[in-house]
Amino acid sequence: MRAVVPGSFDPITNGHLDVIRRARAIFDEVVVAVGANSSKRYLFEPEERLELVRAATADIEGVTAEALHGLLVDFCQAHGAGAIVKGARAATDFDFEVGMARMNESMTGVETVILPAAARWSYVSSTLVREVALLGGDPAPYVPDVVVQRLATRRAHD
Ligand code: PNS
Repeated sequence: MRAVVPGSFDPITNGHLDVIRRARAIFDEVVVAVGANSSKRYLFEPEERLELVRAATADIEGVTAEALHGLLVDFCQAHGAGAIVKGARAATDFDFEVGMARMNESMTGVETVILPAAARWSYVSSTLVREVALLGGDPAPYVPDVVVQRLATRRAHD
């Protein structure tokens, strides 16, 4: 079965990569859907977030990435995916994910598998990584190399 791992990935972190790898261990193929939550503002443009996801997952067999426009359930149908996989770091994430999972299931029957974040990455979020990097901290422990470089370029130009 093919599964979709959706998110905004602003930018992709080691925590996201862990969820993508674990999703791939369960499912035959994984399509990472790079979208946007309409109530959030982003540091990176959609094309750049997708490019960074593709670069960071290039070495994982059976994983591809595509832009997500519109509803996630429509993306799942268009890509022949029978499941959604999301990571949850804490109870607040879980509550939010359960609401979306129920809504998505009610629309097309697609199921969501919620993976608990690895303890090692449970405090890592794109928001905190952006803050650390843009204020001069070292993001290297939390994100793939390609993102470290992009954050450094970004900081130099801002
Ligand atoms: O990184 P995020 O903020 O968890 O990503 C959220 C995202 C993009 C996965 C979510 O907003 C989403 O699924 N958007 C697509 C639009 C949609 O289907 N909305 C209804 C969800 S019930």
